[in-house]
Amino acid sequence: MHFSARTNWNTEESELARTLAARRDSGLTLCDLSNANPTQCGFQYGHNLLAALANPDALTYDPNPKGLLSARRAVATYYADHGVALSPDKLTLTVSTSEAYSFLFQLLCDPGSEVLVPQPSYPLFDFLATLSDVRLVSAPLVYDHGWQIDPEGFRRAITPKTRAIVLVHPNNPTGHFTKPWETEFLAQLCREHSLALIVDEVFLDFSLAGQSPATFAAGLDGVNCFTVSGISKICGLPQMKAAWLTVTGPDSVESLNRLEVIADTFLSMNAPVQAALPQWLECRRGIQSQVLSRLKRNLAALDHLLAGQKLVCRLEVEGGWYAVLRIPALAPDDETALQLLHRGVYLHPGSFFSMPPSGWLVVSLLTPEDEFRVGVMLLVDYFAKNQIS
Ligand SMILES: Cc1ncc(COP(=O)(O)O)c(C=O)c1O
Repeated sequence: MHFSARTNWNTEESELARTLAARRDSGLTLCDLSNANPTQCGFQYGHNLLAALANPDALTYDPNPKGLLSARRAVATYYADHGVALSPDKLTLTVSTSEAYSFLFQLLCDPGSEVLVPQPSYPLFDFLATLSDVRLVSAPLVYDHGWQIDPEGFRRAITPKTRAIVLVHPNNPTGHFTKPWETEFLAQLCREHSLALIVDEVFLDFSLAGQSPATFAAGLDGVNCFTVSGISKICGLPQMKAAWLTVTGPDSVESLNRLEVIADTFLSMNAPVQAALPQWLECRRGIQSQVLSRLKRNLAALDHLLAGQKLVCRLEVEGGWYAVLRIPALAPDDETALQLLHRGVYLHPGSFFSMPPSGWLVVSLLTPEDEFRVGVMLLVDYFAKNQIS
């Protein structure tokens, strides 16, 4: 049998993954500073969350490729709460943000088409693109008193095969929101080269500085702009599998027609989840306020524990669930992560998010607070004992 070239992955476990599994099996203590699964971080979810799935409306199967109107109306209300009037007709429900990306790649790209993604960014992009025969091209983010796009780097990355630019707002793991000058620059680039703009807003509601910056769902003048989001982050419910994409711009009618056919081919949304979505979205603030206070307390603890030493420093973070740490670039970060794991702390090396191979670690601010504090203390201790200052 022949396998497709697109599935030609190296599926061998990394040494880090093997060591992690062995440590877990051994029952030794472990501070997991990679944990970004809200259902495993000790948050209090409403008791009647599952009751929403027993809505008898779901006993009738009346599929709509875009998703049930009642569910799309609830998503439109979410955007109204963000100050944007969006018709439910301008959105399509999907089971996950990942599915929304694959619909958009299928809508916009032919085999070999290119999509620009910021670097560093979310590791799943590679797989999503490969599975749609799309070539990802990295567009650089730079850190200079905060993260920002490198405008000339973005411009240089565009070729005749480029179809879209992806933005993550705020970005994962850098935690920076797109600024108005960046939006204007990227909108201009999209207009000049007839590119679509895809904006991932799964972390939009987790701004550490109070009110969230604006959503892109309002659209941008003359730009075909798609946003993707879902309840895995907004409601802390990754297991419920409900997400969506929004469509604005000069080709929005044709885009929506074509997306409807893509969605109709799979009809992947299930009825009980769609019937429950309005109630889950309505309750989102209960979980969001717990998550936000966890993020802020862990960030304050991190700063407190890093004060008084110079080997590890935290980069600026505006939103999202992660913090990026700069460490001495004396060894590959994979090796540092392995050494830390032997000492009872698990975290992602920056290379997991396509950062350079040395000098970067990423911690999840969602980690339960005691575990987070002990993990950071072990990390600081490791560098104090093992690095030349
Ligand atoms: C930036 C970003 N987009 C999308 C997702 C996945 O969302 P979903 O669970 O809806 O596929 C993640 C998950 O971590 C993410 O970090």
